[in-house]
Amino acid sequence: MAEHPAYPVGLRLSGRRVVVLGGGQVAQRRLPALIAAGADIVLVSPEATPSVEAMADTGEITWQRRPYAEGDLAEAWYALIATSDPRANAQASAEAERHRVWCVRSDDADQATAWTPATGHSEGVTVAVLTTDARGRDPRHTAAIRDAVVEGLRDGTLVAPHHRTRTAGVALVGGGPGDPDLITVRGRRLLAEADVVIADRLGPRDLLAELPPHVEVIDAAKIPYGRYMAQEAINNALVEHARQGKAVVRLKGGDPFVFGRGMEEVQALAEAGIPCTVVPGISSSISVPGAAGIPVTHRGVAHEFTVVSGHVAPDDERSLVDWPSLARLTGTLVILMGVDKIGKIAETLVAHGKSPETPVALVQEGTTAAQRRVDATLATVAETVRAEDVKPPAVIVVGAVVGVGPHPTA
Ligand SMILES: C[S@@+](CC[C@H](N)C(=O)[O-])C[C@H]1O[C@@H](n2cnc3c(N)ncnc32)[C@H](O)[C@@H]1O
Repeated sequence: MAEHPAYPVGLRLSGRRVVVLGGGQVAQRRLPALIAAGADIVLVSPEATPSVEAMADTGEITWQRRPYAEGDLAEAWYALIATSDPRANAQASAEAERHRVWCVRSDDADQATAWTPATGHSEGVTVAVLTTDARGRDPRHTAAIRDAVVEGLRDGTLVAPHHRTRTAGVALVGGGPGDPDLITVRGRRLLAEADVVIADRLGPRDLLAELPPHVEVIDAAKIPYGRYMAQEAINNALVEHARQGKAVVRLKGGDPFVFGRGMEEVQALAEAGIPCTVVPGISSSISVPGAAGIPVTHRGVAHEFTVVSGHVAPDDERSLVDWPSLARLTGTLVILMGVDKIGKIAETLVAHGKSPETPVALVQEGTTAAQRRVDATLATVAETVRAEDVKPPAVIVVGAVVGVGPHPTA
């Protein structure tokens, strides 16, 4: 029997009787998938593990607390034989053969009429891996192949474009702070499936180099905007490409909704009737300090952190930030887009009560190969930025958390 390869098939077990003999570890591992398949499961076993017992308690399976008896498999479509008694297993598998019930055996794959593949799932696809014959069975190898395929599908390193189900539209993907490993699994997969990618300057630019040649990569900063505002021109580009039936990824730095104007793009797409998916990203506001050894909170030091934009100075009438209130807070202040205005910001914080000695760290190009951290205080930060030539993009952290890490890096 084992000279021929197994014939792979997907059993549709919904509402069909499946008999499981033995309530030990094998049953515990196999039952969830049978339950998920909607099978009408009868467990025959004098004992069961606590997890299997819980499945019976919740009504997911019917448990008959007794040993196997001849006739148990008569009405079954499929059987899992996994008792600790080899004689009972052999008798049950002989009965399965007589009744033409496909049966898996935990103790003797050679005697089984079916084998359970190593399975995994990704976005509506089940990956099932079987070894060719019973003697060559290497469960770790098949599991490793399954893991590699599922992982590759999830993170987009294994590209399998959808042909029937793929819908045109836009995915607004938060790309994380810059390190290509810090994009989400979903973001990476959508990127791998894209026809068009409209990318910001910040974010995981290295991932763009991996895209296949047919993918059109558009630099958002270079979209001509003539009589439009730049953001409006980007919105129009998203709509136009999606209307051509293309899968468009709008790749943004960090998280799309943290100073990312993501919702403006969502609104423009909604107005145009274009489907849009939003994929969150790791925001630089937390990850960049973290990458430089600064936790935004720390027990006994900071019980809050506030993320603010420093793109306009505190005395600018367009500023929506209540700097005097921020000066009174005891927690951590994280300032994005604040390099140019940090002198004025520091002055304002001190004028409203923050100590001039409050530690400040500037983390430039965090999580990339060019990352650097420069430390100062509120009193010295303006001069330090000039002297050290700190340039955007940088995250500025103000507060005692700056000093709690073991080895501030230069
Ligand atoms: C327009 S905001 C976008 C923020 C983004 N949506 C996020 O969640 O991280 C751009 C600012 O984010 C900060 N930033 C983003 N990525 C950074 C990085 N890798 N290193 C340092 N700062 C970064 C800088 O303050 C930069 O000026």
